[in-house]
Amino acid sequence: MITGLDHIAIAVPDLEAAIQRFMADFGLEYEGTEEVEAAKTSTAFFPLPPTSIELVHPLRGEGAIAKYLEKRGGGIHHLCFRTDDIDADVARLKEKGYQFIGDEPTPGAHGARVIFIHPKSCDGVLIELSEPQQGDH
Ligand code: CO
Repeated sequence: MITGLDHIAIAVPDLEAAIQRFMADFGLEYEGTEEVEAAKTSTAFFPLPPTSIELVHPLRGEGAIAKYLEKRGGGIHHLCFRTDDIDADVARLKEKGYQFIGDEPTPGAHGARVIFIHPKSCDGVLIELSEPQQGDH
């Protein structure tokens, strides 16, 4: 079951400059940056309860975010819904004909399990589902 808006992810070409903007100009609390190997991203976290802003930047210039930046420059990249049972939600949505990117949830930031619904299935919006690591929520 989807239980909340976990985060909004913004793809940024210059991570340090974007961190400075969100910290110094917008005054948000910077929680730190994590390298998420499975997604090939460096992700900076700005908790903004009950949700969070994530700045995503390619790790080593590779991966989906690198391609996105090449094509479009920065921009809102995806929304992420928190779920308490990602396997059940994936099964339910697949049954309804939703297409996913990849077959199985993969490791996300903070030890969550994540999977993306193909934007073709959601009016052009990339939506991530994330089940937080147990004990995190
Ligand atoms: Co995300």
